Amino acid sequence: MPQMDPQQIIETQRQDWNRVAPAWEKWDTLIDRNMTFINYRLAGDARLRSGERVLDLGCGTGYPALLAAQAVGHQGSVLGLDLAEEMLAVARRKAKTLGLKNVTFQTGDVTALSFDSASFDAVISRFCLMFLPDVPKAVKEIARVLKPGGYLAAAVWSAPENNPFISLPMNALKTFLTLPPPDPEQPGIFRLAKPGDLFGMVERAGLQGLTDEELTGESVYATADEYFSSLMDMAAPLQPLFAKLSPDQRKQAESEIKRAADQYRKGKSVAFPMAIRIVAARKPQ
Ligand SMILES: C[S@@+](CC[C@H](N)C(=O)[O-])C[C@H]1O[C@@H](n2cnc3c(N)ncnc32)[C@H](O)[C@@H]1O
Repeated sequence: MPQMDPQQIIETQRQDWNRVAPAWEKWDTLIDRNMTFINYRLAGDARLRSGERVLDLGCGTGYPALLAAQAVGHQGSVLGLDLAEEMLAVARRKAKTLGLKNVTFQTGDVTALSFDSASFDAVISRFCLMFLPDVPKAVKEIARVLKPGGYLAAAVWSAPENNPFISLPMNALKTFLTLPPPDPEQPGIFRLAKPGDLFGMVERAGLQGLTDEELTGESVYATADEYFSSLMDMAAPLQPLFAKLSPDQRKQAESEIKRAADQYRKGKSVAFPMAIRIVAARKPQ
C-alpha cells in the first residue's frame, strides 16, 4: 500500500479532531465515566509524585493531564500537548472549572517535540500514539525529553475483537464499503494493538520496558441510542467513512449497529467490554 505523506497525516488528524471537539465537550461526562480508570492507571504507572513536571501527549480535552495536575500538586506542573486547538480550548475550560493553575495546554506535534532533552519527570499519553505517522521516531523523542529515571506510561487501543463498541460500526460499514485490511504500518485506531509492538519500540528507543499489559473495562451507555449518537458525534476516524454512505445505507447501518449492540444489553443500559494496552517504561538513571 502506498505510504501516506507524514505531513498529510498530521494535517488530517488536526482537522478531524478540531471538527469533533464540540462533541467531545458535549459528551464529556460520558467519556469521563467510562474512561477515568485509565487516567488513574497511567498516573500510577508513571509513578507520579508531587512536585513533578509532566508532559501529556495528545491530551485532547485534557485526559489524563487534568488528573496528573492534581497528582503532582501546586509545586508540580503539567503540560498538555495536542495538534487540535479546539480540543485544547475544551481542556482549558475544564482546568478552569476544576481550579487547576498548574496545567497548561499548548498546540504542537508529538512527532516534533520542541522541548529540551531531559526536561520532564514523566510522559503520559492516552489514545494518541497509534495515530502518529512514525511511532518509533516519536518514542525516541519521548526518551530524549525524559529525565534519567523518568517514566513513560501510555494507553492505546487493544484488538478490535476485544473492543466491540469500536468494531461494530466498522463491521457495519463493511456491508457497504470495501475497506482495505488495516495496514500495520499506517496510523489507525488499532495500529498498536498487538502485544509487544509499542513495548518493543520503547525498548529499542533505550527505555527499560516495565509493563505491556491488556487492561479491561466496560464502556457503558444509558441506551443503544446514546451509544450510537455519541459514537457518530465523536469518532473522528469513522466519520469520513460514514459520509461515503447514501442516506438509505446510513439508515441501514444505524439499525444494524443498534441491533448488534443489543447483545451487550444489561437491563436498559448497554455495557460493552473494552480492552486497552498499557505500556510503561523507565529511562535508565
Ligand atoms: C482519541 S483523541 C485522545 C484525546 C485524549 N488523550 C483522551 O484520551 O481523551 C486523540 C488525540 O490525539 C491528537 N493527536 C493526533 N496526532 C497528533 C500529533 N501528531 N501531535 C499531537 N497530537 C496529536 C488528536 O488531536 C486528538 O486530540
